[in-house]
Amino acid sequence: MRGLRLLDPVRVGDLELPNRIVMAPMTRRRAGPGDVPRPITATYYAQRASAGLIVSEAAVVAPDGASYPGSPGIHDGAQVRAWRRVTAAVHEAGGRLFCQLWHAGRVSHPSLLPEGRRPVAPSAIALEGRMGAPVDAPFPEPRALGAGEVAGVVEAFGAGARRARDAGFDGVEIHAANGYLIDQFLRDGTNRRDDRYGGDVEARARLLLEVVDAAAEEWTPRRVGVQVSPASGLNGMEDSAPHDTFGHVAERLGARGIAYLHVHEMLGEEGPTAPDRVTPTLRRRFPGTLIVNGGYDRERGEEALRAGAADLVSFGRLFISNPDLPRRFQREAPLAEWDPSTFYGGGAEGYTDYPFLEEASGASPEPR
Ligand code: PHB
Repeated sequence: MRGLRLLDPVRVGDLELPNRIVMAPMTRRRAGPGDVPRPITATYYAQRASAGLIVSEAAVVAPDGASYPGSPGIHDGAQVRAWRRVTAAVHEAGGRLFCQLWHAGRVSHPSLLPEGRRPVAPSAIALEGRMGAPVDAPFPEPRALGAGEVAGVVEAFGAGARRARDAGFDGVEIHAANGYLIDQFLRDGTNRRDDRYGGDVEARARLLLEVVDAAAEEWTPRRVGVQVSPASGLNGMEDSAPHDTFGHVAERLGARGIAYLHVHEMLGEEGPTAPDRVTPTLRRRFPGTLIVNGGYDRERGEEALRAGAADLVSFGRLFISNPDLPRRFQREAPLAEWDPSTFYGGGAEGYTDYPFLEEASGASPEPR
């Protein structure tokens, strides 16, 4: 059998996708007051609807889960109404959009949270370093969630999953990566709890699995994906045995029949963070659909599929600067460079103004 290619169709959960090219979730910090997505966000995602699947930027499921300003929420009615415009625009353009559900945990600051509350975390261990603008202060020591409060986090994710459905998304992706709340529970460097949510891998994975079950109850497991980043040290993450931790997570998620596992192997300019050390373990222990991410280009993506190392590949920055990335891959057309200075915040510049191939080359569009 010939190896699979990026432009081959694939079934993910119960969705038929026209290709294996996923737009990765990316924070762009352009939400308006009240963490409500702006109309331009509908344009941005609709422009990228030729992706097999788009995963939205992280959307916070509770006000206490917020981090840097400009990230959208999915915890109130105004946000849901705004997201409806986004999902409608993507569907109109022929695409499919999952909502990434997020709680930042300790990666926040009282100045960003309701009533100046302290960020919460599995244990009272501060992230080293400072939060950038507009906070410009050291990360505070977070408050350890009480035993009874963890259920509230699970409920918040369940409610986020329900609102995502109300908003017209096609599914949800649970954000368990990059050092945010669920990742803080998974890894033993940040989880020193001695209740049922801390200790061995089984206990540390409990929050994630309860969140997945809550989301699956609102949808079905076939519409729930999970993102992890086992080899990333981003946001002060450490684990003494990442293969055991994430191998266990992979197995338990596999048993639930979720839509996919999405592994983020590095983040932006943080550099490669041992990208290949844990992903093969996930592949071995997770029987379902695996999406890989982290600095892939067309060739490396094709190679991953050909080798059977992954089923789909997600692209982040390349999708920022190339709204028609699948078509460019198909034609092996030149790729536009991204401009990091417009990644976060601002308006249309660096967001909805990257040209499509025809505009870029001056050629006339061909019939579809
Ligand atoms: C960010 O707000 O910078 C951010 C959010 C979610 C991520 C990574 C970065 O997974």
